[in-house]
Amino acid sequence: MIALTAAEIAAATNGRLYPQSIAPALRVHGPVVVDSRAVATGSLFVALPGTHADGHDFAAAAVAGGAALVLAARELAGPDGAALPCVVVDDVEVALGLLAAAVLLRLRTDDEPGATALTVIGVTGSVGKTTTKDLLIQVLTASGVTIAPVASFNNEIGLPLTVLRADFDTRFLVLEMGASGMGQLTYLTGIAPPDVAVVLAVGHAHLGGFGGIEAVARAKAEIVAGLAPGGVAILNADDPRVAAMASAAPGDVVTFGGSAGATVRASAVMLDRSGRASFTLTFGLERAAVALRLVGEHHVSNALAAAAVALHLGVALPDVAARLAAADALSPHRMHVVDRADGVTVIDDSYNANPDSMRAALKALATVAGRDRRSVAVLGEMLELGPDARAEHEAIGLMIVRLNVSLAVVVGAGAQAIADGATREGSWGDEVVVAPTIDAAGDYLEGELAPGDVVLVKSSFGAGLWRLGDRLTGEVPR
Ligand SMILES: Nc1ncnc2c1ncn2[C@@H]1O[C@H](COP(=O)(O)OP(=O)(O)OP(=O)(O)O)[C@@H](O)[C@H]1O
Ligand SMILES: [Mg+2]
Repeated sequence: MIALTAAEIAAATNGRLYPQSIAPALRVHGPVVVDSRAVATGSLFVALPGTHADGHDFAAAAVAGGAALVLAARELAGPDGAALPCVVVDDVEVALGLLAAAVLLRLRTDDEPGATALTVIGVTGSVGKTTTKDLLIQVLTASGVTIAPVASFNNEIGLPLTVLRADFDTRFLVLEMGASGMGQLTYLTGIAPPDVAVVLAVGHAHLGGFGGIEAVARAKAEIVAGLAPGGVAILNADDPRVAAMASAAPGDVVTFGGSAGATVRASAVMLDRSGRASFTLTFGLERAAVALRLVGEHHVSNALAAAAVALHLGVALPDVAARLAAADALSPHRMHVVDRADGVTVIDDSYNANPDSMRAALKALATVAGRDRRSVAVLGEMLELGPDARAEHEAIGLMIVRLNVSLAVVVGAGAQAIADGATREGSWGDEVVVAPTIDAAGDYLEGELAPGDVVLVKSSFGAGLWRLGDRLTGEVPR
């Protein structure tokens, strides 16, 4: 974080300094942390009331560890009764957002000598935000200092924490913006109005919380309405609900996709035997060949989104193509392919799942297995689907049959409808196994898998199949 005084932090957050003896000129230079174990000298410790623990209980440890100041909802004292240096606010989460907004405004007003002009890029969509964020890091870094979220930090806490990592050297600030309810993107863009807003897809994620896909579309459109003055909307031309957001854009619109009219376009998309896509990237009269390292055709769309941002920001097409071709999946459990020594290939896509990403991953499984290898789909529950949950799981079961997946291992009672959907489809054999727990599935697979098998592991994060992903890839000790 840029250095701020305690008085500036209090002013930005509508807070008051405590104790009264605290020096208003006390300097805080970050990092801003919510975990007392992550403090460094000069940190601002943000005492958030969590579901399991209250950050206020860790404020003394944070100060002992070097934190210069605590953002807190009440006056705090250490174990010896001495007051801890605080800015006391009504609501710590809101104050964190206010602080991020104030710091961003200061970075943008650019009155610091030698400061770099900052471009804020917001990415939203039902799937692909983190993947696109990871691609943007790899496409933009060579053109300027890029700050982007740790992991999938995309909510009311993760977004301001990411903003607060930017400083006067930052050229690109990439922000993942999650929308699991109405008004969330309005709140997030209120903190950080993007100069460039990317909408990837309106899909089935978090449908339960919305009550319908049109409501999801309205929630995602908030990012377009929240653009900074003169900001550009970068929209998926292949998703009609996203393309329709052009009418709400306050300024320029750039589109991406396979559709003929898209500004940034992919054509001649091909998958190699490993499921990696190559395509021709076209922008105006220019074109370049791109071969991705990421597995799955669905990543073409994410790559196009990243390309559209970079091209709009002036990166030359050959550079964009070369950087995309060199890009890796930076975040774990996303189409992570491991060829094990015993000849089994594991596709660990267990970070999260919804109907759209399930379909995409199953297609990749079928491609990688091809005609010669046995395909095994190990699938757990997709959460937050509301009243459609049963039908959506059954539809995945149907797709397993249509793709001729050799063996399905359905994990947990919540995913049972996948097995029901598959077995109801008469054209298939009886190659579906229901495992009550993740451990039971792991034990079963250990006995069942044979050289040559290709195994996909996938569920919603909350269903926890990432533990099985770790066990099958053998990359994380159990
Ligand atoms: N364009 C896409 N179409 C379908 N599935 C996709 C697409 N992009 C990514 N996925 C898959 O969706 C899952 C989540 O990807 P990613 O983490 O990039 O999305 P996210 O939008 O950040 O999700 P979250 O809301 O959980 O943070 C992964 O399994 C990934 O392979
Ligand atoms: Mg994410």
